[in-house]
Amino acid sequence: MTDTLYTGISQLVTPRPGPQRGRAMRELTVLEDAALLVSGGLIRWVGRRVEAPATAHERDLGGVAVVPGLVDPHTHAVWAGDRLSDFEARVEGVPYEILLARGGGIRSTMRATAAASRDELVALARPRLQALRDSGATTVEVKSGYGLDFEAELRMLEAVRELALEFTLLPTLLIHVPPSEGRAEYVRAVCEDLIPEVAQENLAQAVDVFCEKEAFSVAETQTILEAAKAHGLATKLHADQFHAVGGVELACELGSLSVDHLEASGPAQIAALAASTTVATVLPGVTLHLGLPAAPARALVDAGACVAVGTDLNPGSSPVFSSQLALALAVRLCGLTPAEALTACTVNAAAGLGLTDRGALVPGARADFLALHSADWRDLAYTLGASPVRGVYVSGQPVKEVKL
Ligand code: NIG
Ligand code: FE
Repeated sequence: MTDTLYTGISQLVTPRPGPQRGRAMRELTVLEDAALLVSGGLIRWVGRRVEAPATAHERDLGGVAVVPGLVDPHTHAVWAGDRLSDFEARVEGVPYEILLARGGGIRSTMRATAAASRDELVALARPRLQALRDSGATTVEVKSGYGLDFEAELRMLEAVRELALEFTLLPTLLIHVPPSEGRAEYVRAVCEDLIPEVAQENLAQAVDVFCEKEAFSVAETQTILEAAKAHGLATKLHADQFHAVGGVELACELGSLSVDHLEASGPAQIAALAASTTVATVLPGVTLHLGLPAAPARALVDAGACVAVGTDLNPGSSPVFSSQLALALAVRLCGLTPAEALTACTVNAAAGLGLTDRGALVPGARADFLALHSADWRDLAYTLGASPVRGVYVSGQPVKEVKL
């Protein structure tokens, strides 16, 4: 096993390992003139350069800031077709939910995705995942949910499995929108056929449901997520995007890993999340692209919740191909401080995926880290429209290094 000592680190910045809530989200460790020892894909030692153990193999990063690799806990990176006409219609005033109710929106992406082969889906998703990784995401969750039928759902998850040979991905089965007829039968088949098959084939680690007026009711969501739990799968929800119909409360009751969106959450939902271990994941790209109110991330942190941030990369509500941009938007739109946003995009996003082995630069953690262009880590939250990320390292290996 070769040891590599990374040096030339002006600042090494990390949150504490594991999920952080409330005030602890802004408590970062900042080490000046630091070094990082990596071996076997893991961090072995972190400290001041002058105290570093002697190693044969040294890499000088050139005097820049180093932060943990970002974790993107919520994407729909596999889709076919586009939503450019929807975009134009929305800009001219037609709301997202109306497009969906008319059979467009998500349903139009479902038709295009169901018509694509697995190889086509892989080829379409690859550059999107590449863009996320170049932006700093070293672990990415990818959902299904655009399959019109179960075969297409499974094809999406198989595409994710293939892409996981190139990227660090966590697949989630998303039960997205019900068919226009026979929804009771559909929910039954999801529970009795689709979930058991996905669990058996190990095609997903979690099941997510879009709990919303235009999608699944709280009762339907509960039935589906209880079937997921019975098959050993973790649970997540899309909830409170447009209406607070009870999805957040259900997520907290079920002990879901995370509940995502929260744009319509109010004091009752904030209090429920603050009292639970469920991660509150906010998606500022949706606020920017759909013009929705921002999720109350500031109030959630102040109440003591564990808040994460994701891109929600998808063609309809968040064409955000950069996890760094999601971090920067969480500061502008959701009121997080740069330190809270870094914690939200690292250890807390990992917790939203049930992972505690990454997101912090501490001995024993995966050696997933970023070298910035800047000597000051706050450029990560500051920069808009250009990438502040010079190098991306996954398990200690460079996957992006911008040559100067
Ligand atoms: O997270 N709201 C539900 N699902 C996705 C959007 C999917 C789409 O519009 O294609 C979301 O926003
Ligand atoms: Fe989503």
